Amino acid sequence: MNGKLVILDHPLIDHKLALIRDEKTGTKDFRQTVSEIGMLMAYEVTRELPTKEVEVKTPVGIAKTYILAKEVVVVPILRAGLGMVDGITALIPTAKVGHIGLYRDEETLEPKEYYAKFPSIITEAVVLLVDPMLATGGSVVHAIDVLKSRGVKNISYVGLVGAPEGVKRVQEAHPDVDIFLAALDEKLNDKGYIIPGLGDCGDRLYGTK
Ligand code: PRP
Ligand code: URA
Repeated sequence: MNGKLVILDHPLIDHKLALIRDEKTGTKDFRQTVSEIGMLMAYEVTRELPTKEVEVKTPVGIAKTYILAKEVVVVPILRAGLGMVDGITALIPTAKVGHIGLYRDEETLEPKEYYAKFPSIITEAVVLLVDPMLATGGSVVHAIDVLKSRGVKNISYVGLVGAPEGVKRVQEAHPDVDIFLAALDEKLNDKGYIIPGLGDCGDRLYGTK
């Protein structure tokens, strides 16, 4: 059985997605809005995090309360994944952050790895793998391969815009991983860009075009 595919349906997420899809939106607003969507998505994505019961002494009694039972590690795929990290960690300030650096070979569209560093507690943590764009799915599948090879067991993928091709590839390679997207688009073009998508997310975040 495949992991969950959740397309987050929320008016604020839809509104902000419209802003970043617009080709007229410049670097400053693009970057800020990607971060804001990251924060809104984090609220939904963490809905089923495990909690544990603890008693807390209030000024007038004892309350049965619930706190997070596991550490959360956010793992952005460089570069574009970085754009969502501030928003997510604003909501989960205790989260640790690992990094994996991948770029797509322009000819083959296959990912090339150039960096990987993770917190040591990652094997027991709940990992949110973050990359705004799920196009062919090669980058996310590779990142999950790397995380699993390091012993990580609990992984969810969080992205902004996905293509059906990418969703299928991740579900086939890693049926245990839940997929959270803000939107599922129509298709890929012959250069591996998501249509209608939002263009090259890394370039729009960092002004490198
Ligand atoms: C983009 C994007 C994803 C990847 C998605 O990164 O941020 O990581 O492409 O494509 P895929 O699903 O076909 O693998 P890119 O390779 O352009 O690198 P960058 O983030 O450094 O710009
Ligand atoms: N990477 C992007 O940044 N955008 C796409 O549409 C596909 C891959």
